[in-house]
Amino acid sequence: MAIQFDPANLTAALVGENGLTPAELKEGGKAAQAALAGFHKSVDDGTYGFPHLPFDLKNQKGILEYAASVKGSYDTVCVVGIGGSALGAWALDCGLRGPHPVQKPFSTSNPRLVILDNVDPSFVMGALASMNPKRTLVNVIAKSGATAETVSTFLIVRDWLTQAVGKKAKQRIVAVTSEHRGDLKVLATNEGYRMFYLPENVGGRFSVLSSVGLVPAALCGFDIRKICKGAAAITTAAWKNDLAANTALRAALHHWLIWTKRNKPIQVAFPYSNQLWGMAFWFRQLWAESLGKKTNRAGEVVHVGQTPIAALGTTDQHSQVQLYMEGPNDKAFTFWTVKKFDNPGRIPKTKTGLEAMDYLPGQTLAKLLDAEQRATAAALTETGRPNSTFTLDRVDAEHLGAFMQLLEFETAFAGELLNINAFDQEGVELGKKFTFALMGRKGFDEYSGRFKSYEQKRAKS
Ligand code: PA5
Repeated sequence: MAIQFDPANLTAALVGENGLTPAELKEGGKAAQAALAGFHKSVDDGTYGFPHLPFDLKNQKGILEYAASVKGSYDTVCVVGIGGSALGAWALDCGLRGPHPVQKPFSTSNPRLVILDNVDPSFVMGALASMNPKRTLVNVIAKSGATAETVSTFLIVRDWLTQAVGKKAKQRIVAVTSEHRGDLKVLATNEGYRMFYLPENVGGRFSVLSSVGLVPAALCGFDIRKICKGAAAITTAAWKNDLAANTALRAALHHWLIWTKRNKPIQVAFPYSNQLWGMAFWFRQLWAESLGKKTNRAGEVVHVGQTPIAALGTTDQHSQVQLYMEGPNDKAFTFWTVKKFDNPGRIPKTKTGLEAMDYLPGQTLAKLLDAEQRATAAALTETGRPNSTFTLDRVDAEHLGAFMQLLEFETAFAGELLNINAFDQEGVELGKKFTFALMGRKGFDEYSGRFKSYEQKRAKS
């Protein structure tokens, strides 16, 4: 398993005044060491727990035993969850089985994954109509046990299942939630669902290697031990002081410097692989929710954040690259490339006699994809647009687990470098409270009042 990080195109030698100087990198090295020490201390004292997840063999064993006990009884895994309770499972599914709609046909030996994360009624009701309740295993996931989207959809799914299989519904539902709190825990206990827990010190967007990501992954038949093996190797490297051996810290340092010293408020995550497309959406949440903050640890108002954008190579070369090349120079680009594809997609050797086609026969799609990525990187570099590249040897369970853990460590280190708390999400609370008030949940009268006054202001405007 190998993941390389190439930051050369972030340096002044390649992108001129938009790049980092050797002096800045040297100086930044000290800040990186402090960030590593600071984060290590918080993990050692139990404040943050995601680095321990790949080593939790007991949890992995329990999940595998459960998956083996239900294997063959379903052709669809229906995850009900949102945000950190859904995106990791989607990223793994996309990585290991390819993006919809090009997956192999689903069956009891290759169950598909349907993720109900949005409450768009046409999506949820359409998904239910496409699933057979007698061949569906429902996995409801909510750390808080109270997220309105998850709870409301789950109540519909639970009813749909009960109508079809009666009392046996409880055998077709597995819940992932907090062990000691939340109404989902209460309901699951009352109704006798199988339950798995995630540690309290692991936040939603850092939870893919807890039961949150591993239960749906195991139910889909993915090798969760290999996912965790890759993540464990990255974790060991992420605690090293030596920047050359610590890819997560080196990436965090370069990305933090280019963002803050060269004013790049946008980062484009640019996978050249459809299999990594789900991962790009998972990363978007990780980077945005973790690093977009109003205050720093000293309580000063900083309004810090770097907007992550997901772009797909080569598709978005024909959609976004015009902007990236000639629009505002406010972006840092991070290519995600893959060295080896299972099938390189050979172009038939037969020639057509046509100039625009006859240089291609005998070559491969993998070679073209690689050429297009290197060409885009060169073009961006030539116009002074800083970019870097992560390269995965291949897209398999071990590399996916490793890459996710690497990006989580990078995010945690970036939080330290910015002197912010990367693990809270106060900014999403107000909208949630207004929603509860609008939907009539008890205890939210104050927010009903605030919402009314907002509407009155709008009416007057
Ligand atoms: O990262 C986070 O903590 C959030 O994005 C949560 O994952 C998301 O809000 C869903 O929360 P819950 O798992 O409680 O339903």
